[in-house]
Amino acid sequence: MRKIAVAKGDGIGPEIMDAVLKIFYEAKVPLEYVTVEMGKWVFDKGYNTGMTPEAKQAIETLGILFKGPMETPKGKGVKSINVTARKTWNTYANTRTFQTLHGVDTVFSKAEIPIDITVVRENIEDTYGGVEHMLTNDVALSRRFITRPGSMQVIKYAFEMAKKKKARRITCAHKANIMKLTDGLFLEVFQEVAKDYPELKSDDVIVDDLCMKLVTRPDNFDVIVLTNLQGDIVSDLCAGLVGGLGFAPSANIGDHICIFEAVHGTAPDIAGKNIANPTALLLSGIGMLRHLGFMESAVNIENALLYTLEQGIHTGDFGNKSIPAKSTTEFAQAIINNFGKEPQQGAKALMKDTPVTETHFQLEKNPMLESKDSATEKIIGVDFFIESNEQPVTIANKCLRHGGVKFKLINISNRGTQVWPTGSVYTNLVNQYNVRFESIDDSPMKQQDVLGLYVSLSGDFKICSSELLLLLGDKRAYSLAQGQ
Ligand code: NAI
Repeated sequence: MRKIAVAKGDGIGPEIMDAVLKIFYEAKVPLEYVTVEMGKWVFDKGYNTGMTPEAKQAIETLGILFKGPMETPKGKGVKSINVTARKTWNTYANTRTFQTLHGVDTVFSKAEIPIDITVVRENIEDTYGGVEHMLTNDVALSRRFITRPGSMQVIKYAFEMAKKKKARRITCAHKANIMKLTDGLFLEVFQEVAKDYPELKSDDVIVDDLCMKLVTRPDNFDVIVLTNLQGDIVSDLCAGLVGGLGFAPSANIGDHICIFEAVHGTAPDIAGKNIANPTALLLSGIGMLRHLGFMESAVNIENALLYTLEQGIHTGDFGNKSIPAKSTTEFAQAIINNFGKEPQQGAKALMKDTPVTETHFQLEKNPMLESKDSATEKIIGVDFFIESNEQPVTIANKCLRHGGVKFKLINISNRGTQVWPTGSVYTNLVNQYNVRFESIDDSPMKQQDVLGLYVSLSGDFKICSSELLLLLGDKRAYSLAQGQ
């Protein structure tokens, strides 16, 4: 028997988890469950990570967490338990599969356009670092981290998965036309990894264009890999294509620990009524069985689910309204009654995945700390983000006094748009400017030089934050202002 950790979650979590575990029990899935304490009620008991130390220990020992949705208490300054769990255990790839399910009517199923899309979303980085500051009363800043090793591990995973799935196409979606350094890096890594998979058709698309194409011809896409926030939005869009959040499973894959859960939340509006749809959690559980190599159980349960949906059996949130809706427990029982049956209309579940060989070892060092890139680094200037409600020319005149013999003032921008030395009177200004200084003769600077300038400038302005301007090799490692 393989032991896994189970957290039932909040809201509808316990109802749908009980339904899924009953299906697993009746299907004789060889799993043993260790129930762990996680969720809002654990926050309420005073654990600010939303889980007890025993729960953390059990999950780290067992390597697999099957979880129901969990509520994040609002306005108490605590971080989402779901995001904390994904980040703490480095589950770097969030995989969500969206397939046409017969019996779940959508505009695409009616038009006979089949959908089978897997979205692989980077799960750790991006604005989900939650590193945010108010720079002035009116200006908030979020730091967006996209790293080479972080992008590499999720993109490699996506290619491996696409190869195993015999995907027709793997697409990188991004906004590298605007965010040239962050999304540009993600795209660059994608193109680098693609060279190792010549048998796979790979391409890229700008994320807004992808959204338009997904709602017109979703059947043109197969595997899509994206950064965290864009992936979050696009995967909910894809859930809508196949019938809504009730049909969206997800797997958070890491090298040591994997978390399987539904995409939807705790549905507080229907909690405790025994009417929630357990399909998304069941599909997540089926994905977990495949991951663990329990193919026969996965195929048996998936076929019974597909057959049940095809029969028009449904919970209240979907399906033919002229057929009375089943409760959560009745819906689960209908699936159990259909064990051994196969769907007639759509594709039946196949033993298509090769079992993953689980590796269980503790992280002894952090391989991502070592950069493989050995480009020489030169400090050639600094950006200071200052608070001021004065006009750009007044700020420039003050800044010009501080450059000394080492620095020259290059430009001033406001919300990323250059406003000095050239600009437009029509640019709207907020009380936070970026003043950019570079070394006078392009000679490399020391951090001490930058600190000297910092001290001098702080006599005139409140400096909210600063960034070094670097040259990595011969590449400029910072963005230009709009209009610079
Ligand atoms: P939600 O997904 O819980 O609900 C949105 C709507 O979908 C509601 O009308 C709900 O009744 C319906 N719905 C969701 N799942 C359903 C199901 N299985 N069967 C039938 N109807 C279903 O999203 P909401 O309201 O934004 O979030 C509620 C709570 O869930 C929040 O505290 C949020 O932080 C948490 N949440 C947790 C997640 C997780 O644990 N992975 C993911 C998303 C939200």
